[in-house]
Amino acid sequence: MDIHIIDKTFVPFISAAKINERVSELAATINRDYAGKKPLVIGILNGSFIFAADLFRLLTIEAEISFIKLASYKGTSSTGNVVTAIGMEENLKDRHVIIVEDIIDTGKTLHAFMPEIMNRQPASVKIATFLSKPDALKYDVKADYCAFEIENKFVLGYGMDYDGLGRNIPELYVLKEN
Ligand code: HPA
Ligand code: MG
Repeated sequence: MDIHIIDKTFVPFISAAKINERVSELAATINRDYAGKKPLVIGILNGSFIFAADLFRLLTIEAEISFIKLASYKGTSSTGNVVTAIGMEENLKDRHVIIVEDIIDTGKTLHAFMPEIMNRQPASVKIATFLSKPDALKYDVKADYCAFEIENKFVLGYGMDYDGLGRNIPELYVLKEN
């Protein structure tokens, strides 16, 4: 069934069953990779909260979770926007950090944010993303764990919004063409 939000129509794209299958596979890999390392999972709000919750509850290893919000503002340097984390209280020093994103699109946000993470001297940093759009990528950002690589199309649901709406849809929808 199509979904109408404001001026747009979205059609079914990836089912809840398929999502659950891939998230379970990622969790199994992370359980293997991080056994005994007590990783700190950091979800980037708002979009990642559904994926982060689903992934985290499938971890069977010792792990912690925290959430941050990124705010970007114009820096004074010519490099453009500076991205800073709101709510990052955890000490990252010598921790194994897993950044959790809903989607890597151009990669701009994560690219700008990585120096702030690295400054805190974690033992390691990996990126887990629910989606990535390889054709949209403009910055040097690579996910270590990715549930689905998709075409460069606007998607909705499973935490992702159109103008603030649609995050609560349990499946993934894609913008209907024309
Ligand atoms: N959908 C929703 N939010 C997004 C997308 C998308 O396709 N890409 C980046 N943010
Ligand atoms: Mg959004």
